[in-house]
Amino acid sequence: MLSLDKICYTIDKGDEEITLIKDASIQVNQGHFMAIVGPSGCGKTTLLRIIAGLNEESSGAIYWKGRNLAEDEDLSPSEIGYVPQFSIAFDELSVEESIESAIRLRVRTRSLQEVDSILDNVIAKVGLEELRDRRVEVLSGGQKRRLGLALELASNPVLLLCDEVTSGLDPKSEQEIVQLMHQLSQEQDRIVVNVTHSLSNLELYDSVLVLFEGRVVYHGPPDSLTHYFSTDSAENIYPSLAQQTPAQWHDSWEKHSASYYKKQDAAEITGSTPGDSAHHATPIPGRLVQLHTLLGRRWKIFFRDRTQILLHLAMLFGFPLLVVIFGLDGIPQPMHGTGIGSGNLIEKIETEIKVEKNKLEIGGLLSGLVMFQVILLTLMGSNNSAREIAGERLLFEKEKFAGLHVSSYIASKVLFLLILVAIQSIWMGVFVEFLIPSLPGELLSRLITLILVNAAMTSICLGISGMMRTPEQSSLLSIYLVGFQLPLSGAVLALPHWLEPFTRTFISAYWGWSGNLDLMKDPKFSQAIDKVTEKTSIIETGFCLTVLALHITAGIAAAYIGAKRHRWD
Ligand SMILES: Nc1ncnc2c1ncn2[C@@H]1O[C@H](COP(=O)(O)OP(=O)(O)OP(=O)(O)O)[C@@H](O)[C@H]1O
Ligand SMILES: [Mg+2]
Repeated sequence: MLSLDKICYTIDKGDEEITLIKDASIQVNQGHFMAIVGPSGCGKTTLLRIIAGLNEESSGAIYWKGRNLAEDEDLSPSEIGYVPQFSIAFDELSVEESIESAIRLRVRTRSLQEVDSILDNVIAKVGLEELRDRRVEVLSGGQKRRLGLALELASNPVLLLCDEVTSGLDPKSEQEIVQLMHQLSQEQDRIVVNVTHSLSNLELYDSVLVLFEGRVVYHGPPDSLTHYFSTDSAENIYPSLAQQTPAQWHDSWEKHSASYYKKQDAAEITGSTPGDSAHHATPIPGRLVQLHTLLGRRWKIFFRDRTQILLHLAMLFGFPLLVVIFGLDGIPQPMHGTGIGSGNLIEKIETEIKVEKNKLEIGGLLSGLVMFQVILLTLMGSNNSAREIAGERLLFEKEKFAGLHVSSYIASKVLFLLILVAIQSIWMGVFVEFLIPSLPGELLSRLITLILVNAAMTSICLGISGMMRTPEQSSLLSIYLVGFQLPLSGAVLALPHWLEPFTRTFISAYWGWSGNLDLMKDPKFSQAIDKVTEKTSIIETGFCLTVLALHITAGIAAAYIGAKRHRWD
């Protein structure tokens, strides 16, 4: 039995406290199908989320088979299914792929056959056999709701909580989904709770809970509703509610509730002991298995998103082309002051000027080419990851609630992005190397700096993506960050000396540029590079790589911390 004992839920709004749920006490038997109804804004979703454990009650207690969930062990993620109001699957996947990934993420299976057998079973239960191969994006509203239920059934939960899964459907589809939930409550003693605005099909529920401004004003059989609210049909109970205050309705229900609950099986309340439900909990897969499932799914989604692929390809091939345009004539050879003009003073001065011009030309070209490469790689980095977490946040929250380890999730993002970063940076480095003749420095070390600067920006933007509330916020912030790389690096216009340590420290492009130019400072080109840079601005490559590695670590840590937070709204 699920029972709520005087549950209150208050939130702080500035100086005042707002009570969203007040003294909710109900009891729901195993195998019971309950509706939570009430006018918009009365607290239905809030109550459902308290039961799910997503909102923590301010006072009162919730018992599951006699076990206090706040004090004793909570229900395991696989024991609760929560179907939220928003869409819960990736548009790019098919029905079958979505359910299969839910099974692999939530259920510890021993073989592929076991996965297939759960998959067939779940698909049959929700009636989606004909639509196994259909993409989620083209499903109808009703089919999406069935899919939402199917994802939760993957772990065979004992408590299934559904928020408005029938809203916005035509009457026939609504009835079919209510019937489906009714059937689901009849298997395995499962409690199914459905929040709904709709007052039709109430006869299919075992009980109806009416909420009014955060108070329980009725919980009982659907056929007694009209009598209790003195109306001729259930559809008219909302207008009747206005005839008394919520407190009056609540008091009146308190008096009647005892007789209703007495009718319920008393043995259920007293007979259960804590730990009764332990055998229901399906073990959750290990971190590596989840990581493997997530990675496979990420690549599948990546290859099916045509727009993203085109954008990636355009950047991958277009950006290096942009760089080489500036260096197609190759790097000029450094001139030497001695030996060229040994004649008179004027010739010497002319030669000296030529040498200086030559140094400036070479230094400017090398510094510009490197900075251009680095900036374009940071742009690719921000495109790689700015929406990576924020763009799928609600889906991720849902999967986290169902037992997905945050570490597996972040690791899957890191490995996925690592491949993109490696391809982009290596291609950039190699392409530029072969099309711009006589670039000083060694290719392998240059590739390492390019990979690290791209990885640093990708990682920082992944961190932003984990921290921000919406994909729009995250993209905007990431693009601003790329925009500030060039001015704040101090490579084009020198910054005030006292400001440099504060800004440069955080600017990945600076460390990529500096590390890369340092590699080019062989005796031949050293003077040319010194000519166009300040003495202190070129720092040893090893140190630059260390700072970039710190940027990468900080980005991943921020992504992990952001992903750990609950972000349902
Ligand atoms: N974090 C919050 N801060 C302030 N008010 C909140 C917060 N969460 C919920 N509320 C308020 O609490 C009330 C109940 O919200 P809830 O979402 O539970 O209503 P509901 O019954 O599910 O409504 P609907 O039928 O429209 O979905 C609403 O008035 C809502 O504005
Ligand atoms: Mg709601």
